[in-house]
Amino acid sequence: MKRIIFATKNKNKIVEINDIMKDLDIEIVSMEEAGIDVDIIEDGNTFEENAIIKVKSVMKFTSDIVMADDSGLEIDYLNGAPGVYSARFEGENTPYDIKNKKILNMLEGVEEEKRTARFVCIIAAGFKDGSIITTKGTIEGMIGYEIKGKNGFGYDPIFYVPEYKMTTAQMPKDLKNRISHRGKALKEMKYKLMERLGDMV
Ligand code: IMP
Repeated sequence: MKRIIFATKNKNKIVEINDIMKDLDIEIVSMEEAGIDVDIIEDGNTFEENAIIKVKSVMKFTSDIVMADDSGLEIDYLNGAPGVYSARFEGENTPYDIKNKKILNMLEGVEEEKRTARFVCIIAAGFKDGSIITTKGTIEGMIGYEIKGKNGFGYDPIFYVPEYKMTTAQMPKDLKNRISHRGKALKEMKYKLMERLGDMV
């Protein structure tokens, strides 16, 4: 079975990705499982740059396929912020309850039409021959007026999806995975990998 190393320390991501990729003859393992320990400095200006930085950092240690993602929340009223700074917004270790309240305050009094936002995810995959491909997934929504829901993580409790009349934190996990930025980018990557399966050895 072919192996892909996913450049993350987050075990939940590995579970989600293995689930989406399960009908391919590929095993996705974390850096830890692959015995790779590298501190990656994500200093790109875009999600794509950061995903590629992660892939390239791990490619130095292996000839397996390396995959990485980078994602975040873009709020139109804040000119796309927090964007690539989503994890670092208001401090990396600040609880999301506080980060989310801060965003609600920043949007206080802003009318509904101007509260549009999206989650964006870029997946990058790097191959033995040095080539790198990327896919992108987005989910459109708006910043709600209050914190709602207990599922998910991060900005989910303030990310309201009008089509489903709930925040992504109110969605059951499998619904969110199906329609999320990460789910969409991963599915597209799965199809691109299937096309390349022949020359992946
Ligand atoms: P990462 O690139 O997946 O580590 O995500 C960067 C940051 O974007 C996270 O720490 C969250 O703040 C935010 N983010 C990305 N995806 C989601 C999501 O599905 N829900 C809520 N927040 C997210």
